[in-house]
Amino acid sequence: MKVGIIGVGGIATNRHIPALQTIEDVEVYGVYDVNQVRATEVAASFAIPFIANSESELFAQVDAVVICTPNKFHHQSVLQALQAGKHVFCEKPMAITNAEAVEMEKAASEGKNVLQIGYHYRFKKEALAAKKLIQTGEIGDPLVIRVEGMRRRKVPGWGVFINKDLQGGGCLMDYGCHLLDLALWLVDYPEIESVHGQTYELVSRHEDQVNEWGAYDATKIDVEDHATAYITFKNGATMLFETSWAANVPSDKETISISGTTGGLNVFPLAMNKASSGMMSTMNADWIAGESNEGIAQARNFVNACLGREESLVKPNEAQQVTSIIEQIYEASKK
Ligand SMILES: NC(=O)c1ccc[n+]([C@@H]2O[C@H](COP(=O)([O-])OP(=O)(O)OC[C@H]3O[C@@H](n4cnc5c(N)ncnc54)[C@H](O)[C@@H]3O)[C@@H](O)[C@H]2O)c1
Repeated sequence: MKVGIIGVGGIATNRHIPALQTIEDVEVYGVYDVNQVRATEVAASFAIPFIANSESELFAQVDAVVICTPNKFHHQSVLQALQAGKHVFCEKPMAITNAEAVEMEKAASEGKNVLQIGYHYRFKKEALAAKKLIQTGEIGDPLVIRVEGMRRRKVPGWGVFINKDLQGGGCLMDYGCHLLDLALWLVDYPEIESVHGQTYELVSRHEDQVNEWGAYDATKIDVEDHATAYITFKNGATMLFETSWAANVPSDKETISISGTTGGLNVFPLAMNKASSGMMSTMNADWIAGESNEGIAQARNFVNACLGREESLVKPNEAQQVTSIIEQIYEASKK
């Protein structure tokens, strides 16, 4: 299977190209980037034979494309790639607006090709094991889901991350979306009843800038660096969600914890809490089987899905719901 990469910046060169190049049955055959110098350098360093002058030139040479452009371009590129009959892997978030994501999901569902979105947190071993524990009924029915993706003063000032026009938002679009997707997937994407939320950007704009990931132009930041949400589901479950690039907290924190009717679990690190036979106990996972590199696990799943060997783990309608919730948090925050 021949794969082409659209947009060969950070995520393409750090994750997707190296991951795809470990997989047999796949050749990373071509690249396209609006920055032709970058395309030429990346093609040379990864021994990729074909440098396209346009997306359509790339489509003509490959079976599948991996879209790693800024968020603003996901919608158009995905639609064109599906229209050209290609399998598509698109980086997260699926799109900037829910209307775009709905259109992308519809296009994929009307055809036979794979559309997978880059929610790679699902391929972490702890996440896959937590999913199995929930599926086998270990915690009963999930009731309360607590999600925290917290970074202490780590605004990614490089590249496109703080560019609202290109990315559509800040920590929600970049980081929070991963944890939101993972938490929702673990509990089978229940139907949403309501989304309340608030976003903040005052810490990043503060003139006394303290940022572990280097200096950035604080006068230009117009994306959120912190967001909170309270989400209720039609099945009665609720989610407490918080994500930040720049929180004033003692240390970074990445947790998903789920309380169910007969038990509970924490995903990072994986542990399960039970109460039975007059005893409360916690089971910690000492070792988990599987691929340790989630980028490789994700690439393998995409390739296998394209070749009809297995289902893509990340369905377009699920990724669309993440974009919908993010949009609802932004809307709620304006009120
Ligand atoms: N899954 C993750 O954890 C993760 C991490 C980082 C970034 N991302 C996502 O990956 C995408 C790219 O982010 P990045 O950090 O690699 O950005 P980047 O700025 O490093 O790279 C983007 C590349 O796309 C090219 N480009 C821009 N517009 C283009 C267009 N219209 N057509 C073709 N090429 C174009 C740029 O020249 C650049 O080389 C974003 O959607 C981002 O949200 C995902």
